[in-house]
Amino acid sequence: MGKLRVAVLFGGRSGEHAVSLVSARSVLQHLDPNKYEVYPIGITLEGAWYFGQDALALLQQGTTQGLKPVAILPDPTRPGLWQLAPVLERLAQVDVVFPVLHGPYGEDGTLQGLLEMAGVAYVGAGVAASALAMDKGLFKDLMRAHGLPVVRYRVFTRRRWEQDPEAVIAECEALAPYPLFVKPANLGSSVGVTKAKDRAGLRQALDLAARYDRRIIVEEGIPAREIEVSVLGNEDPQASIPGEIVPGDEFYTYRAKYLDDSSRLLIPAPLTEDQTAQVQALALAAYRAIDAAGMARVDFLLHKETGAFYISEVNTIPGFTPISMYPKLWEASGLPYPALLDRLIELALERKRERDRTRIRYTPEEG
Ligand SMILES: Nc1ncnc2c1ncn2[C@@H]1O[C@H](COP(=O)(O)OP(=O)(O)O)[C@@H](O)[C@H]1O
Ligand SMILES: [Mg+2]
Repeated sequence: MGKLRVAVLFGGRSGEHAVSLVSARSVLQHLDPNKYEVYPIGITLEGAWYFGQDALALLQQGTTQGLKPVAILPDPTRPGLWQLAPVLERLAQVDVVFPVLHGPYGEDGTLQGLLEMAGVAYVGAGVAASALAMDKGLFKDLMRAHGLPVVRYRVFTRRRWEQDPEAVIAECEALAPYPLFVKPANLGSSVGVTKAKDRAGLRQALDLAARYDRRIIVEEGIPAREIEVSVLGNEDPQASIPGEIVPGDEFYTYRAKYLDDSSRLLIPAPLTEDQTAQVQALALAAYRAIDAAGMARVDFLLHKETGAFYISEVNTIPGFTPISMYPKLWEASGLPYPALLDRLIELALERKRERDRTRIRYTPEEG
C-alpha cells in the first residue's frame, strides 16, 4: 500500500489567518512521513492558493515567492491538485484534505462546499455543521430547538444597528442587565468581542462588532468558569475529559489566548464526577445536534453561582498547536497528538465512503 496523499491547507481569508499558521506548523510536524505524502498549501489573505514544501515558512514571512499557484477544482472528474501557471497541469492526486483553517472561508462551510463538489475526503465537519457552528446566532437557535442550555441572546444585522440604533440599544437592555457580551456572529479568537458594562460601552461594542460581520450577537454576560470538551468521531462520537481555561484577562480575549501566557489550562478541569458526566453528555448532544463529523471542541460557560452549564460555542476546526486545548484533552484522555491526526484522517476517509453510499441516480422503476 502506498502512502496516503494529504493536502494540508492553512492561512486563509480570515482574521484568524495567523492562528491557522501556528496550528498548521504542528500538524505538519506531527504527520508521520512514513504514512503520508504531505502537500502543504498556503492560502493568502487574498485567498490565493500556493503549494510548496516550504509554503508555511514563506507565508509566515508574508511572501509566496517560488511557490506554485494551485487549485482543487469543483469537478470530481478532474481530481487532485492542479497547478495553474505557467501551464495548467495536475501536480498530484489527493486522498484527503486537512483544512487547518480557522474562521471564515475555512471553518464555516464554504471550503467544505468546494471539497464536497470536488468529491474529495476531508477532515472535519461538513457544510451544514460548519456553517451552523460558525454563526453564533444560528447555532444558539439550534441548541434551543434541541432543548440544550444557552444564555439569553439576540441577533441584530449591521443594517438594523445602523438604521435604528436606539431600538437596538433598548432591545439589548431588555435582554439582561449589564454586562452584555457583544460579538460578530461569524468569527472566532475573540476578535471583535467586547464585554459591555454600560450603554456607552454597548454602543462602541456594536460598532466594533459591525466592522467584522453583518450579523451581531448580544448575550447576557454571566460570571462563569470556562469548560471545554473535545469530541472525536463520525456516527459514534466520543467525548474527552473536560478541561478548563482560566483566562489571564478580564475574559478570554485575543490577548489572553495568543499574546501572553497569562491564561492557564487545567486538565482535567476540577469538576465533580457528576459535572464531568453532565458536560460530556451536553458536548455530545451539541455535536449531534449540528450533525458534526470528525472533530469539534465544545465550549461551555459554567455559572459560578448557580452551577448551571451553558453551551457557548462549537469550534469545528479548533486550535491545533501542541499547547491547544483540543489535542491536549485527547492526550490526557489517552490519545497522543500523532495518533489523533491518524484518527482524523481515518474518519475523513470513513465519512467519504459513507457519503459515496448515497444514491445520486433515481429511477422510478427501482424506487
Ligand atoms: N455570555 C457570556 N458570558 C460571560 N463570558 C462570555 C460570554 N460570551 C463570551 N464570553 C467570554 O468571551 C470569550 C470569547 O467568546 P466566544 O463566544 O467564545 O467567542 P470566540 O469564538 O471568539 O472564541 C469567551 O471565551 C468568554 O471568556
Ligand atoms: Mg470561544
